[in-house]
Amino acid sequence: MSADAEIRLRLGKSLLRFNTCGSVDDGKSTLIGRLLYESKALYDDQLAALEADSKRVGTRPGELDFALLLDGLSAEREQGITIDVAYRFFSTARRNFIVADTPGHEQYTRNMVTGASTADLSVILVDARKGVLTQTRRHTFLVSLLGIRHVVLAVNKMDLVDHSQAVFTQIEEEYRKFAAELGLPTITCIPVSAVNGDNILQPSPATPWYRGPTLMALLDNVEVDQTRLVEQPLRLPVQWVNRPSADFRGFAGTIVAGRLRKGDAIRVQPAGRLGRVARIVTYDGDLEEAVAGQSISITLDDEIDISRGDLIVAANQPAEVADQFDATVVWMNESPLLPGRSYLLKIGTKTVTATVSPLKYKINVNNLQHLAAATLELNEIGVGTLQLDRDIPFDPYRVNRDTGGFILIDRTSNDTVAAGMLHFALRRAQNVHWQALDVNRAARSAIKGQRACVLWYTGLSGAGKSTIANLVDKKLHSLKRHTYLLDGDNVRHGLNKDLGFTDADRVENIRRIAEVAKLMLDAGLIVSTAFISPFRAERQMARGLLAKGEFIEIFVDTPLGIAEGRDPKGLYKKARRGDLKNFTGIDSPYEAPENPELRIDTTRTSPEEAAEIIVTYLQERGSFDPD
Ligand code: ADX
Repeated sequence: MSADAEIRLRLGKSLLRFNTCGSVDDGKSTLIGRLLYESKALYDDQLAALEADSKRVGTRPGELDFALLLDGLSAEREQGITIDVAYRFFSTARRNFIVADTPGHEQYTRNMVTGASTADLSVILVDARKGVLTQTRRHTFLVSLLGIRHVVLAVNKMDLVDHSQAVFTQIEEEYRKFAAELGLPTITCIPVSAVNGDNILQPSPATPWYRGPTLMALLDNVEVDQTRLVEQPLRLPVQWVNRPSADFRGFAGTIVAGRLRKGDAIRVQPAGRLGRVARIVTYDGDLEEAVAGQSISITLDDEIDISRGDLIVAANQPAEVADQFDATVVWMNESPLLPGRSYLLKIGTKTVTATVSPLKYKINVNNLQHLAAATLELNEIGVGTLQLDRDIPFDPYRVNRDTGGFILIDRTSNDTVAAGMLHFALRRAQNVHWQALDVNRAARSAIKGQRACVLWYTGLSGAGKSTIANLVDKKLHSLKRHTYLLDGDNVRHGLNKDLGFTDADRVENIRRIAEVAKLMLDAGLIVSTAFISPFRAERQMARGLLAKGEFIEIFVDTPLGIAEGRDPKGLYKKARRGDLKNFTGIDSPYEAPENPELRIDTTRTSPEEAAEIIVTYLQERGSFDPD
């Protein structure tokens, strides 16, 4: 082999990402330290060899190697997850390694999920003296949830149990039984002593009964996901569309599964358009073929419409397309999940809007029991239905972590609040189609001689929403307009009588009202809704359901002191006494609108004047003209 070829081979070493689970007591830090230490000798040898080679070809191997490792980390950075996970790097002659060192306690579940989400393998540590503990089960569950295919149970501190085969075998049997229930694919149990280095790099003479690989040998030889992914159908999420000149239109991204050759027939999802690959372009020139893990640009024979976030797949092996899923959600934020609230969902290079419908259950990570749950708190894991605002292509997470894994982002704070896995599409999504009706909204509005819209009143309890909305409704009625008024206190007696005043219930309350208002708008009515609707996110969601200009947000602005002074139903008094929990303005927040269409300052405007302002506003915007 030429020196040039050899150096390329070495720099093209495979990369194994793994994580370690366990606590300090189990000897996790010692084990990592031991791996770094033992590999150093190998690494120094390798570096010396590379340096000798590089003199001949004029590159600095150390830099290139490091660049390669950094490359491997960019995925986490792109996902925007900033939770602390300590990463360490080391190399052997065959491989580069990235170890995510994640803390073991339950309150660090999110760290572990972050650190292990891209791992090929997990090393789960147990103390030989203690055996399989609750935390071992928790870690194993998380590892199985994250779709990690290889698990190493490192039974540490063997020196403290006299290297007893009986102790090791008992732990191994117990562990395998538990892991089988979770359906974990490959498990290797290794008796080690991180302190003494037993079975880390060299087989230990103290455990002659153990015939399996040493930890380092296993890490060096286990199949990395990348290799497996190459054999799967092509998946190339489009990261950006590149158009440097009029005759070049490239679609750039990293292949996450499969291979792609010049001339291959491809399909662009979700739309499903077909095309053929003309060129595969990289910084180092054109390629005949590219495989999973490579970042490339492609050009097509024909101009077809492709944008960022689309998924390029093999023409005859498309991904499934759906907008409702059964999914697992791992909650990573201090503020709990609010089912019904809309979050941004990022999957691959695509961002859409998603809501989690009521959860089916949450999982007790320590004993795997399913518990009923209305919401998820920090570090909790639940299973439920995910509803998107549009179709996306996907693969089940267990098949492909890139096309089946997602994160949820809070729309206001921009924080990553959850990570999750898509399991399967709900048939419902495929079989329920919106019925196109012949008598449509325009027809229904026209017969009424008006343009339908929603007047969305928001403000504190006692602010005057119902009073003003009622006056406006009367005025509109006398002007022979067709209206309907949805009022908080009334709707909560019927449609929403199952809901209380927790954050989650308020979100659901507003979601239903928004949907009902939309149907009524469709019926051609001028709809008024008078609800506190305390959260910006849900008002924004309601606005998003309607066309531009149809949602008129009216902020009935009354300072808390004044609303409390009025206290028409005596509720503020009750709340202050502590007899009424979660009362808006007292122990539940109200997020004032930032850009309402109308703001009524009730300290200067009487209800009568307010109604006049609103009716005039409608008149001026043409609500009383035929559509
Ligand atoms: S919202 O927050 O979900 O929009 P909504 O407008 O439906 O609330 O209901 C508010 C009305 O319910 C108030 O005007 C008040 O009469 C009554 N109410 C009872 N308990 C509460 C509470 N904890 N917080 C606010 N309003 C309450």
